[in-house]
Amino acid sequence: MKLTNKIALITGGTSGIGLEAARLFQSEGATVIVTGTNAERLQHAVAVLGENALTLSVDLRDPAQIDKAVADVVETFGRIDVIFANAGAGTAAPLEAVTPEQISEQFALNFNGVFSTIQAAAPHLSHGSSIVVTTSFLNEVGTPGLSILSATKAATRSLVRSLGAELAPRGIRVNAVSPGPIATPFHEKLGLSEKDLAAAGLAIQAAVPLKRFGEAREVATAALFLASDDAAFVTGAELVVDGGLTQI
Ligand SMILES: NC(=O)c1ccc[n+]([C@@H]2O[C@H](COP(=O)([O-])OP(=O)(O)OC[C@H]3O[C@@H](n4cnc5c(N)ncnc54)[C@H](OP(=O)(O)O)[C@@H]3O)[C@@H](O)[C@H]2O)c1
Repeated sequence: MKLTNKIALITGGTSGIGLEAARLFQSEGATVIVTGTNAERLQHAVAVLGENALTLSVDLRDPAQIDKAVADVVETFGRIDVIFANAGAGTAAPLEAVTPEQISEQFALNFNGVFSTIQAAAPHLSHGSSIVVTTSFLNEVGTPGLSILSATKAATRSLVRSLGAELAPRGIRVNAVSPGPIATPFHEKLGLSEKDLAAAGLAIQAAVPLKRFGEAREVATAALFLASDDAAFVTGAELVVDGGLTQI
């Protein structure tokens, strides 16, 4: 058991990578708190994770909701040992079609949401705690139509280094897990037509050296490594789980 008696807060824990991580962390002895916004997915998480898990409706674009959620967690459990700042979403649009609202929305969730979660929770973390942020293969490549999403993820990669430096004196590690294309509902939310989504899926699968999409569980196991003491001497790093897409 790699997370015995740990209190783990997982944002975006109601679907895809976050939900798989919640199941895995639980099976390794952690008590998990998962957040999301969609009522049906929150209900599904309750069904999957059972009564020992806490599910919270938190829109990470709103810092006040984050502060309240962290206060609720600390009131219930007294501390936080692991943060998996994983929630994220994107909107695909070419240069000429990107709107200021799309830029604000994506940064509000993918960057500000991660920052505010860590900022709110940091006072409640003790020596040996671990923060894992979900970045993306997109911070290493240029992809038409994904300029803003990619930039938000590059910003979080930078944040992992800066906060790693700030929190190292307190014995708190900060790392990133960087998924390649992973089979989750994420892609359906990009706003692409079915035809464009299918074409993009085939193209990216062909570009991945291992010739397939990854599974959410394959990212969750990497997050578990970074969250646990197995990675006790790892901080500021990004663990890439992308079938070789950005590496070979
Ligand atoms: N799948 C991929 O190919 C891929 C590749 C690279 C990086 N990633 C990253 O992996 C992370 C997890 O994505 P996934 O693939 O597991 O996608 P997913 O299945 O769509 O899960 C996204 C999670 O984020 C939550 N979320 C969305 N908007 C939110 C908001 N405003 N406030 C709070 N939570 C919100 C969702 O909850 P609700 O729906 O309830 O709001 C859900 O739990 C994201 O950061 C994504 O950028 C994914």
